[in-house]
Amino acid sequence: MPTLANHPEKLPIVLGLTGASGSILGLTLLKELLLLDVPVDLVLSEKSLLVMYQETGFQYTQAKPEDRQIALCQFLALPAEKASLIQVESNKNIGAPSASGSHRTAGMVIAPCSMGTLAKIACGISDNLLTRSADVALKEGRPLILMPRETPLNAIHLENMLKLARLGVKMVPPMLSFYAPQFDTVAGQIHYSVGKILDLLGYPHTLYDRWHGLAKGIETV
Ligand SMILES: Cc1cc2nc3c(=O)[nH]c(=O)nc-3n(C[C@H](O)[C@H](O)[C@H](O)COP(=O)(O)O)c2cc1C
Repeated sequence: MPTLANHPEKLPIVLGLTGASGSILGLTLLKELLLLDVPVDLVLSEKSLLVMYQETGFQYTQAKPEDRQIALCQFLALPAEKASLIQVESNKNIGAPSASGSHRTAGMVIAPCSMGTLAKIACGISDNLLTRSADVALKEGRPLILMPRETPLNAIHLENMLKLARLGVKMVPPMLSFYAPQFDTVAGQIHYSVGKILDLLGYPHTLYDRWHGLAKGIETV
């Protein structure tokens, strides 16, 4: 059976970014997908643009609309040719391709995912392109991967996550990892979280060191 990574037809991934903290997680995932030549249907919530500017200094709306994909590639230190792989639609455009189940995709990732967007998806509220696209992924039985980001989590957040997890949605919060020296840096932690998403989608990567067992000399009891 073809995995997503070796599928002869490279279907796009729908990638949503919300106004949760951690824009760099979604941007790093975008970069990795483009490096793999995977087409990306990119949906940026209005609040994601504010948080992205606050956290990374990248001001998406500074460039003219026709230049924004190239500006994104420049920010991600990617060649300008990769811009042709990115299809950006306004979050207000409920008529965009990813709003319909007839538009074939390999699935959807929302990274980072705010508690507000998570709650809407859990309740079936499709009030913008991002939430509608997630609803489409769910109804079509396609992979839906969320990277929820908030701390501490209240019972509403947890109940919404449980409800979605029971529907097959993968919850991949950015959790700290410690088993390898690369995790000593924030960049190492970001690569770990993004690598976990690529693992779930079936794409190859070398973003983090895999676990190979306990170090020699450490006895199990
Ligand atoms: C700098 C900043 C950081 C934020 N971080 C989070 C967060 O980590 N998690 C969260 O759920 N909301 C966070 N928020 C609040 C969301 O941006 C807000 O709930 C917003 O309405 C989410 O809208 P969206 O899901 O449509 O992007 C943050 C807001 C700002 C300004």
